[in-house]
Amino acid sequence: MIEADGLEITPTSSLNGTIFVPGDKSISHRLAMMAAIAEGKTTISNFAESADCASTLECLRRLGAAVKREGTTIGIEGRGLQGLSAPSQELDAENSGTTVRLMSGLVSGFPFESTFIGDESLSRRPMKRIIDPLRQFGATIEARDDNYLPLKIKGGDLSPLEFKMPIPSAQVKSAVLLAGLFARGTTTVHEPVRSRNHTEIALAEFGARIRTSLNTVEIQGGYPLKGKDFSVPGDLSSAAFFIAAALAIPDSQLRLKAIGLNPTRTGFISLLVAMEAKVTVGERSMAAGEPTGDIIAESSEMSGIEVSGNWIPNVIDEIPMLAVLGTRTQEGIRIRDAAELRSKESDRIHAVATNLRTLGARVEEYPDGMFVPGRQSLIGGVVDSFGDHRIAMAFAVAGLFAESPVMIKNPGCVAVSFPGFFETLRQVC
Ligand code: S3P
Repeated sequence: MIEADGLEITPTSSLNGTIFVPGDKSISHRLAMMAAIAEGKTTISNFAESADCASTLECLRRLGAAVKREGTTIGIEGRGLQGLSAPSQELDAENSGTTVRLMSGLVSGFPFESTFIGDESLSRRPMKRIIDPLRQFGATIEARDDNYLPLKIKGGDLSPLEFKMPIPSAQVKSAVLLAGLFARGTTTVHEPVRSRNHTEIALAEFGARIRTSLNTVEIQGGYPLKGKDFSVPGDLSSAAFFIAAALAIPDSQLRLKAIGLNPTRTGFISLLVAMEAKVTVGERSMAAGEPTGDIIAESSEMSGIEVSGNWIPNVIDEIPMLAVLGTRTQEGIRIRDAAELRSKESDRIHAVATNLRTLGARVEEYPDGMFVPGRQSLIGGVVDSFGDHRIAMAFAVAGLFAESPVMIKNPGCVAVSFPGFFETLRQVC
């Protein structure tokens, strides 16, 4: 691998080793936000090394939370359900959709005005999905074209809500549950398909009055959270790139240590097992109320699969990697019902299809997905990260099994979820 304007990934003959990936990004955001409004001190170890989670910490500081960071350990002195203060500056979520969407729910509980801003990519992403329910709670919200950043929110004195989610989205569900903490009574959220439930688990860990049955979650407002100590599991969405690389490259075996195995996140593993990939789990344990385990992945012959319907929310962040892996399967990978991918950090359907074609692959693109035929070899070439961390990492893996080097333009965006990604890759190659 040679670092230049972009980053060149050279093909490798095998991958071996044991690695740790950073703490889970979704869980880290949630624990930090809840710690800020809890009573007493919270310590979070293995906090995600991710620019997105650093944005959350900075926004919490601007709201008056006392946040200390030493490496991957975070200490937060909670301010209680009424203790945050009006920010003297805008709250800059940078590239992080989770920061702005979840924290919008949080600040809706306070009677001051907060303004969220973000980078160019975040400023293109839809916010109407959280604006609607938060207005129904009683918050006053202004946004560009009623859908985009900057987002100005004035909250306080919230009425409880019964909310039927029009789309499956953990971010929307979480915004509603966080606002529900401040409402006068019980808030109920019904989901069409179960999305990741880290918010529900973390709220229960902090002592909130929360109950889940099937696809419905209920939270009672007005009850305090209590600070405590947590250790964050490894991020399965970051591990996914290494798992895929080990499966695709001959003579490889990787062990990924202490990865989060929450069933609302492990669709990627279940799909791989259904594709006859050699993926196993050992050393199971628990951290921050979440199941964890080591994942062992070995070079495999894989069959193809169709991924659609209820699978999508569970594998949404792993689809770029799955699509690239499709070229290594027998029958290919078809993805449907995933139009949501067009509203992520980049239009991920367009980004994956464009880059795969640059590397000589055939791809059929649909409005809500794509078909990547199997048994295709990739030639080398220059691909674009589109400023999207998951696109950069998926195509770094493609570079490991392509016939000649793959240059990735704008690779620095990996820092959004995994700053040490290329370094870890070097270690196992
Ligand atoms: C996330 C939820 C998902 C996911 C995102 C993180 C979260 O988004 O794509 O990377 O932490 O809640 P949606 O809820 O919009 O599907």
